[in-house]
Amino acid sequence: MRRHTLALDPTARRRAEEERILHTTTGPVRVDVLGELAWAIGDPDLLRWLLTDHRVVKDRRRYGDRPDPGRPTAHDQAHHRIRDLLAPVFAPDRPDVLPVTVERNTSALLADLSENDDPIVDLRAAYAVELSVRVLADLLGIPADGRGVFRRALDRMLEDSAATSDPDVRAMTEFMSAATAGESGPAETLVLAIGHEALVNLIGSAIAALLVAPEQRGLVRAGRATWSDVVEETLRVAAPMSHHRLMRYAVEDIELPGGRTIAKGDVILPSYGAASNNPKYAGADSTVFDVTRADKSHLAFGHGTLACPSARLARIACRTALVGLFGLFPAIELAVPAATLEPSPSLFGNGHAALPVYLHGRR
Ligand code: HEM
Repeated sequence: MRRHTLALDPTARRRAEEERILHTTTGPVRVDVLGELAWAIGDPDLLRWLLTDHRVVKDRRRYGDRPDPGRPTAHDQAHHRIRDLLAPVFAPDRPDVLPVTVERNTSALLADLSENDDPIVDLRAAYAVELSVRVLADLLGIPADGRGVFRRALDRMLEDSAATSDPDVRAMTEFMSAATAGESGPAETLVLAIGHEALVNLIGSAIAALLVAPEQRGLVRAGRATWSDVVEETLRVAAPMSHHRLMRYAVEDIELPGGRTIAKGDVILPSYGAASNNPKYAGADSTVFDVTRADKSHLAFGHGTLACPSARLARIACRTALVGLFGLFPAIELAVPAATLEPSPSLFGNGHAALPVYLHGRR
């Protein structure tokens, strides 16, 4: 058992080391999350168990003995409202809406990229971020002249989730409130921003994985793996949310299998990254990216009733982005050594700060 508190690195540079600690420690690990103590759960079985336990809630205000951190908490109503807001997007009678919206935006972005004369292009900014913003804005019905506000509001919420008085965040929250008959608040804007961040990270990490290991791309080209295998293996090895920004809280003492106890009022940090690439699922080489791996099970989209309702969207968007990019630019290469790619500086999100490439190879 680990005795000391592990201070999670907000720059993400020590993530691999942190995941190793979560993999090798039995049970929850005491962590410091930007000054707040929590129990990180990186064991997939324990995480599933806790996420479906009625004594574990997402609403900080369900118990009154902890000061409000001054940021939106995902109170129970907010889960329903954001799901209601997204419901028309996922309506089963409009199954083609997602692929059509994603295809249209991917094609437009690829057309822009093919006209880009810059020798080096940052695909995180020019492709992953753009695709996510445009697809989400289209699906939510945000008019063209509101896209700038939308993008800035998402960025501000991720920088500082207490930035509810920021003019762009207020404008975005008002827009969403109007779309949900006055039901939305800052918590909904934050949940949307987290979804955007995750989608950007997924697209970027999948592209990076194939650029760093071109032989994996070769396996897809040779028909030995599919683009969906690439998406699932990326979700497994590099879950886009290492830890979820909205934590969980124990409303009663919870005795864990093995005898330890998470006390009433304790904070629980779902560590989806460590749980997904845990050797318990995939064996000793669990952190190696291998598109031919038979079992790609992961928890990247969460588990239980509050699991991600946008998993289908994320999978379609990432697959379409990969097919389009590698189809149009077969000679694409990283413009920097793989070892110098920096993680995006986030304790929660797991992606790259930038993804500089030569679209047509080093010419
Ligand atoms: C690769 C992309 C994505 C990943 C990996 C991801 C991951 C997750 C995870 C792990 C959860 C569970 C959170 C928890 O346990 O508290 C979640 C919930 C959620 N996600 Fe996603 N997400 C992604 C994209 C999106 C997008 C694009 C949207 C918005 C359109 C979205 C909206 C939501 C919502 C509404 C919830 C439920 C929040 C709640 O009920 O409290 N996600 N997501």
